[in-house]
Amino acid sequence: METRRIIELLRQGQPGETVHVQGWVRTKRELKDFSFVEVNDGSALQGLQVVLNPALPDYDQVLKLLNTGTSVSIGGEIVASEGKNQRIELQASRVQIWGTADPQTYPLQKKRHSFEFLRSIAHLRSRTNTLGAVFRVRNACSAAIHQFFQERGFLWIHTPIITTSDCEGAGEQLAVTHFDLQQVPLTDDQSVDYSQDFFGKPTYLTVSGQLEAEIMASAFCNVYTFGPTFRAENSNTSRHLAEFWMVEPEVAFCDLSGDMDLAEAFLKSIFQAVLERCPEDFEFFNQRIDSSVLTTADTIINREFERMAYTDAITQLQKTSHKFKFPVEWGLDLQSEHERYLCEEICKKPVIVSNYPKQIKAFYMRINDDAKTVAAMDILVPKIGEIIGGSQREERLDLLEQRIQAQGLSVEDYWWYLDLRRYGTVPHAGFGLGFERLVQFMTGMANIRDVIPFPRTPLSAEF
Ligand code: 4AD
Ligand code: MG
Repeated sequence: METRRIIELLRQGQPGETVHVQGWVRTKRELKDFSFVEVNDGSALQGLQVVLNPALPDYDQVLKLLNTGTSVSIGGEIVASEGKNQRIELQASRVQIWGTADPQTYPLQKKRHSFEFLRSIAHLRSRTNTLGAVFRVRNACSAAIHQFFQERGFLWIHTPIITTSDCEGAGEQLAVTHFDLQQVPLTDDQSVDYSQDFFGKPTYLTVSGQLEAEIMASAFCNVYTFGPTFRAENSNTSRHLAEFWMVEPEVAFCDLSGDMDLAEAFLKSIFQAVLERCPEDFEFFNQRIDSSVLTTADTIINREFERMAYTDAITQLQKTSHKFKFPVEWGLDLQSEHERYLCEEICKKPVIVSNYPKQIKAFYMRINDDAKTVAAMDILVPKIGEIIGGSQREERLDLLEQRIQAQGLSVEDYWWYLDLRRYGTVPHAGFGLGFERLVQFMTGMANIRDVIPFPRTPLSAEF
């Protein structure tokens, strides 16, 4: 008999149907005349209530083994439930136990565990209600992202993970080497002889697929990446990972204002799609994790984002009496305290800040006519701060060369990037969405380490 997923049974299962389910026992309740177990297969927050009658073969023995964590296949008949927490339940006629879980040692017993403890058992934590809901939402988010771009004619492109360039120029790259670190070959002047390394030059894990996305946008007009990126920044915060996933659309014949429109439509569409697909999970987050989750989703979907130039944002921040750790003055790289104050206190909704001073932004951003600012935009949201960073790119060869030099980078290293400006250059723009920050924002989870299955942070890469 075909196995049915529990979510489908909970939504559509009818009394009288003979079905077969499989999953892991969450709870067991032994009564005098019969017993209940709740089985969860990961498809839904709620499990399926299974009724076990003493008439079952080996009833006592089976019941003893049906502890939290035990894996089972159960066949039986769907019946209407008399309990008020569920519409239907499964009257078991056959139980097969695949693997037991000793209640003395299995760590996920009924009591609530701290997220910190659950991180130390990342191989088991996906079997909890919260992490289960997080990873279903994460999946729905990924699917919605692909759907958004596919429906609009964007090509999904795969950019390299190993690279020789530093897109953001922030020196936060993790090196990739094949050297035996006990015996690194040296040149005559005692520096590392990279010509003997695997690729013959220094290589790193990518911090962004943008530069390669620009190449592809110069052929296909609209493209996007969705892949892992790596940053060795030593920021042990609740919003930083050393390995995170980024979504980077890149659009030819597009300016900064078109870029902002795309980013806003994108966030609205993703929220709408995930809310429709995972209503129970959203309800759960709103009740158990953060009571503003549903209003946040409503704000994102239904209210226009605020748009504000960087210079105006600075003026607004200077006007408040709030004391910031980093004093506010023009030229400041907005810190998370400023970003949050802007959207949580001043605008009370997401804000798109644009036209930042050129000194605090990357070399590829287009210089504005004032020669002081660049056509950059960041989307700031409550509790998280920056969720999206984007810009119109510098498409003018001479100005781009000047910017590369001014930032101490070598024009020779970027010969291929500059070729895009030499041959058929076009105005173009794009942005990068921190995928985990989006999932964090959507679910209200306080720590970014709890929205990726296996988080990598400084000094931590177990599992
Ligand atoms: O603002 P960033 O550095 O922009 C870029 O990398 C551009 N190349 C994007 C583009 O225009 N194509 O990073 C983009 C986003 C940030 O807004 C943030 O949400 C996320 O990536 N991000 C991180 N997320 C988790 N952990 C980290 N260490 C992150 N660093 C950036
Ligand atoms: Mg940024």
